[in-house]
Amino acid sequence: MKTEASRQSFLEKFKAIQVALTFRDVFLIPGRAEVEPSEVDVRTRATKRHKLNIPFVSSPMDTVTESDMAISLARHGGLGVIHRNCSVDEQVEMAKRVKRAEALIIRDVITVSPNDTVGQALALMEKHNISGLPVVEEAKLVGIATGRDVRFAQPNLLVRQVMTDDVVRAEEGTSIEEAQRLLRDHKIEKLPIVNRAGELAGLITFKDILLRGKYPDAARDENGQLLCAAAVSPFDLDRAKKLDEHADILVTDVSHFHNANVFKATKKLMDEVSAEVIVGNIGTYEAAEDAITELEGISGFRVGIGSGSICTTSEVTKAGAPTLFATAQVSDAVAKYGADIPVIADGGIRTPGDAAIALTAGASSVMAGNLFARCSESPGSLITIGGRYYKQYRGMGSPTARAKRYSLDRYSLPSKSVPEGVEGWVPYKGEVSVVLEELVAGLRASMGYAGAKNIEELWLKGRLAALSASGAEEARPHDVLLPSEGQERV
Ligand code: XMP
Repeated sequence: MKTEASRQSFLEKFKAIQVALTFRDVFLIPGRAEVEPSEVDVRTRATKRHKLNIPFVSSPMDTVTESDMAISLARHGGLGVIHRNCSVDEQVEMAKRVKRAEALIIRDVITVSPNDTVGQALALMEKHNISGLPVVEEAKLVGIATGRDVRFAQPNLLVRQVMTDDVVRAEEGTSIEEAQRLLRDHKIEKLPIVNRAGELAGLITFKDILLRGKYPDAARDENGQLLCAAAVSPFDLDRAKKLDEHADILVTDVSHFHNANVFKATKKLMDEVSAEVIVGNIGTYEAAEDAITELEGISGFRVGIGSGSICTTSEVTKAGAPTLFATAQVSDAVAKYGADIPVIADGGIRTPGDAAIALTAGASSVMAGNLFARCSESPGSLITIGGRYYKQYRGMGSPTARAKRYSLDRYSLPSKSVPEGVEGWVPYKGEVSVVLEELVAGLRASMGYAGAKNIEELWLKGRLAALSASGAEEARPHDVLLPSEGQERV
């Protein structure tokens, strides 16, 4: 403990006050552009290894990201982080759904045994929402049970009595073009892949080939499956290990990651899982420095404390690191240590311009809850207020979200007894694709103004200026009567 003589004077503390600017305090200074906005490249990285085609990530919140959101975002080139306010089994099931949504070759194929009953096969098809099951005996492919084979058969018959045993199959290593030709020539929907021993090694489906053409910019893993991330508590090793079998990326979900116990638990977790781990939330240079030097193998930083639209952290505790400030702090520490760890700016993003500013401050992508809670793919309920549609949106530290968590998960017993979030409604915007289209077009326009043809160039060339209160007034429509005047601006 410092002695009275060695401690900084309290007045010195005032002199050392830092300026923690927020998205609302700054704007981008236009720079010379060599490309048109439509030519701006917004590809980026979510983690050290995983690439995204757009820099947008959805928050792990129970009114934002479940499988539908994660699937839609990945199909459009972004990433969804599945929330953890549910049982381990539920979260694992959501991750599985994302990985199964489409693939080049499905590796964890759902199969039946020839000795299973038709009823069992039908139940499997229903549960996983699939229309055909390869029939496997001692790892060997012996048939296929299609919807047509089982739908009208007696449920107590055996699969071997109804299956198609002359199965069209392909050898491991068959090209997609060849697979497509086989599917078309034989007018079939599923093509089992077998190894030299005749054992089932995978499955190619016509649906997946079609989807691949439909979403050429999807964010995918090396098997062609959609990229999937899931939130974990560093103290819940069991959950992390189970999710590790399916998710590509685990994201620690801690409001103040810069904490000795959290570091210790995360170290253990990172030793036990093979997925990439994004850690956070942090908000300062020192937190990043400690994480880089004390935790080996971090794949990403999630940064920003207290800027979220549903946060009451800063109001209640008077502590916080606004996302813009946090992004610059952490990005500088990453650069100083040559750590090559992508930074996700999390919270407070309301417009594409906010995203552009976060990227200018060193982020590789931005995380948003509010913007995505507005979409049809979010799990929150839809209601009408005054003739308009709204969706539910709540902070994960809000009283109702906390109550659900504590009833489910003994690892999240409260270390703090104050709520740090609120619950409310956000205007309904339709499908994620609509929101992403606006975000990407706006981001390209911002980057065009900044004169940056890609995100790395924005880090180098993007310049910021502070906005005064009167400047903020001037920067929005003014001296004109707007039809929406008098209505709340959301
Ligand atoms: P937006 O601005 O998109 O921010 O709504 C989403 C981010 O807010 C964080 N989050 C919370 N922060 N109390 C907090 O202080 C909460 O209850 C809470 N819930 C979510 C989180 O980082 C999220 O990504």
